[in-house]
Amino acid sequence: MIAPSIIAGDMTNLENEVKRCDDGRADYIHLDVMDGQFVPNSTFDYTKIKELRPLTVIPFDTHLMINEPVKHIGDYIDAGSDIVTVHAEVTDESSFGEIHDILKQHQVGVGFAINPDTELPEWSYKFLSTLDQLIVMSVIPGKSGQKYIEETHAKMARLNTILNTHNFSGCIEADGGVNLENIGSVFADGARAFVGGGAIVGQQDVRAAIKDFRNAVLKSRRRMLLDKANQLGGSDLVNKWIGLHVIGEKQEEIKDQQKAHIHRRVSRLGLFSHRVTTYISPFDEKFERRVRVPPGVGELYHRRDESDIRDCVSDGAGTSDIFTLFSERSRWLR
Ligand code: DX5
Ligand code: ZN
Repeated sequence: MIAPSIIAGDMTNLENEVKRCDDGRADYIHLDVMDGQFVPNSTFDYTKIKELRPLTVIPFDTHLMINEPVKHIGDYIDAGSDIVTVHAEVTDESSFGEIHDILKQHQVGVGFAINPDTELPEWSYKFLSTLDQLIVMSVIPGKSGQKYIEETHAKMARLNTILNTHNFSGCIEADGGVNLENIGSVFADGARAFVGGGAIVGQQDVRAAIKDFRNAVLKSRRRMLLDKANQLGGSDLVNKWIGLHVIGEKQEEIKDQQKAHIHRRVSRLGLFSHRVTTYISPFDEKFERRVRVPPGVGELYHRRDESDIRDCVSDGAGTSDIFTLFSERSRWLR
């Protein structure tokens, strides 16, 4: 999910920034609300969001950098937010519980954010299984255009352990200093939504910047899945995978890269005969599919209807991951 942040553009013409994101085929529009208290700067509030709402159907990803968010949550729901994220630093178990329930009642996505210096508070663990989004800040909040804090990679590793233990099934959104150089490793860390201020809205051609972001993510995903295929099935599986998912010259290029470390014996494809995979549609509905993967897997992949698949949580490593990649690929390349 690519989420351009409009505050990195012309603050006197946010309407036009929304239009640029819309033309650029963003997945979300990231709206940074700052109140001049939680952070030194002020940007806009719900009244602006209300004005922007009719300009696009792209989901509004509202990031509240404000004090006492519980007092204002209703205004941001009414303004037309699709996800509202509040900060750990200004909530506690009781106020976040209230925010969580109000958002759920209104079918608005529930987001929780932590600053670079903040660890996930223990009181928040009980909300993790129903949280829709966790924003991991990789800059000190307050403005766009800052440098990505490298320590965030290590933090993500720690977070993943906690999130797995507590059945987090939402989406991690990386926010702050994400760019073409680091998005691949941020994806590998586990982020699936990426805010882009300077690196997207700050660019002249927003559409091209979004496309470049998608391609960089795809490249990282491809590398990870190839590694996994190597571990699981050796050279035959890797070659089959490449044959199915990679086109033209690129195929040869990747095969060459792979040759270097393909030694293992071929494993039987029967290993992947049944998989149950959970998908999340663009409307956040989860649905499961039981998939049989016979030998001659290619045809099956190609017959799948992938149009509504946004992301996938697999029940395990293997073919379902590989085929998720295929599904996602066409979306990301669009
Ligand atoms: C920072 C905001 C970010 C920021 C991102 O307080 O939450 O969303 O606008 O901008 P870049 O990508 O330029 O760091
Ligand atoms: Zn933000």
